[in-house]
Amino acid sequence: MPVNLSNSTPLAWDSATLDADTKAMLDNLQPNILQAHVREHMSVLFIGFGDGADAKRFLRDLVPLMKSARRHLEEVREFNRSKAAGTSYVGVGISKLGYLKLGHSTTGFTDNAFKSGLKRRKDTLEDPPVSAWEASYKGEIHAVVMIGDATAPPVAATRERVLALLPATAKVLGEETGLGLRNAQDRGIEHFGYIDGRSQPLFLAEQVAGEKGTNWTPFFPLSHILVADPLAPKPARHFGSYLVFRKLEQNVRAFRQAEEHLADNLGLTGADRQLAGAMLVGRFRDGTPLRLHGKPSSDGFPVQNDFSYRDDPGSKCPVSAHIRKVNPRDSRDGGLERVLGVMMARRGQTYGTRTDVPWDDAPPETRPTGGVGLLFMAFNSSLQNQFEFTQQSWADSPGFPSEGAGHDPVIGQGKREVKVRYPKAWGSDKLSAPQAEVPQTVTMRGGEYFFMPSLAYLKSL
Ligand code: HEM
Repeated sequence: MPVNLSNSTPLAWDSATLDADTKAMLDNLQPNILQAHVREHMSVLFIGFGDGADAKRFLRDLVPLMKSARRHLEEVREFNRSKAAGTSYVGVGISKLGYLKLGHSTTGFTDNAFKSGLKRRKDTLEDPPVSAWEASYKGEIHAVVMIGDATAPPVAATRERVLALLPATAKVLGEETGLGLRNAQDRGIEHFGYIDGRSQPLFLAEQVAGEKGTNWTPFFPLSHILVADPLAPKPARHFGSYLVFRKLEQNVRAFRQAEEHLADNLGLTGADRQLAGAMLVGRFRDGTPLRLHGKPSSDGFPVQNDFSYRDDPGSKCPVSAHIRKVNPRDSRDGGLERVLGVMMARRGQTYGTRTDVPWDDAPPETRPTGGVGLLFMAFNSSLQNQFEFTQQSWADSPGFPSEGAGHDPVIGQGKREVKVRYPKAWGSDKLSAPQAEVPQTVTMRGGEYFFMPSLAYLKSL
């Protein structure tokens, strides 16, 4: 039976009754797609190939360092039982230009954004000109190798093994080092100080069972992240996923200043000043969703995610907040997000080190203005309909989800000229005087689109 990507029930990956095609899919899919792999420490290597035959040999030789999605899930299960550490994550993505260098035709790939490459999409996405990108992203990138683990030593050791396989005709064009950032409660945060990575599409039965909700169903079918690998020996059994990689630098000082400025303009005092930042993000720093609470809530752990915007016109969570812009849930049409199928699997990691305490209330002047940010990574079955749609039609569109919403205050790109109004108090229908949009504090420094091929394809090279 062919793998049913639209199956309306979550995947029971270890079921004894699993059909042969789905089993083959799991044995040939790269890890970190169906479920996030531990990647507190990461090395991301961008590679340029000089010779197609050498490049094929390199990619094939990487396979013994990699594991399948099934092996990853087995390791997770073992870790949950016995705390036994698993093996490092090694993921490989190939760009459109990479496939051409390998001598392959890319006609089998259906995603036009992938086939254009990120550089040619900069106008659609309102990205900075390529001339302003960091040097390592300016030229042709053919492949990316991502190495991740819980601690630094296995990443360093695996990185050495990968580099030892690199042929003389290939070059490392650039490298990023991902480093997880954690708050005082040991929860993963991003550099503005907010808990990140909470709301994700879930695909596996055991994950979905662990998160019952009445207002928001986190289950999504595999069709959100998987497509047949067109160059694999058996595309009906061998699947891959499109990866968007973007280096997003965060000007933390400017964001903290914007929070202070907004708090002043809204007349917020004392502990209520935290509302300003929450109105920009849609959650307080500890993850408490503004849709459910007007202040950080002790109900917040595990961080709540069972909410919709159905009965909130914006008096609790402003329509302009980051999480509402990029996932409007069911604010319209009884499930806009679900109907459009936009939700992608975010697998980013923070980068950069700092000496201040990212989650405390120290003044903005003590915060970094650059050198830190997010290596934004997400898996999609369509870059055009998921990542690009989210960035362009939602985050960068001041008229979404309604007139006067403004740009996404965290990631919106393009001229910010709208006047935005916020609720005067949490839950109040009375709105503030129109405020200038907060300045852009996240800057794209470079990136590329890749396809994460099946292991069967890599073995066949
Ligand atoms: C430096 C850049 C970014 C920062 C600081 C940031 C921050 C955050 C934070 C704090 C959350 C809340 C945690 C959660 O609900 O999981 C979140 C959620 C989310 N972000 Fe971002 N983000 C960034 C970039 C992006 C980009 C580029 C996109 C897509 C184009 C994106 C899409 C999302 C989505 C879809 C959610 C989940 C919303 C939900 O389902 O409620 N983010 N982000």
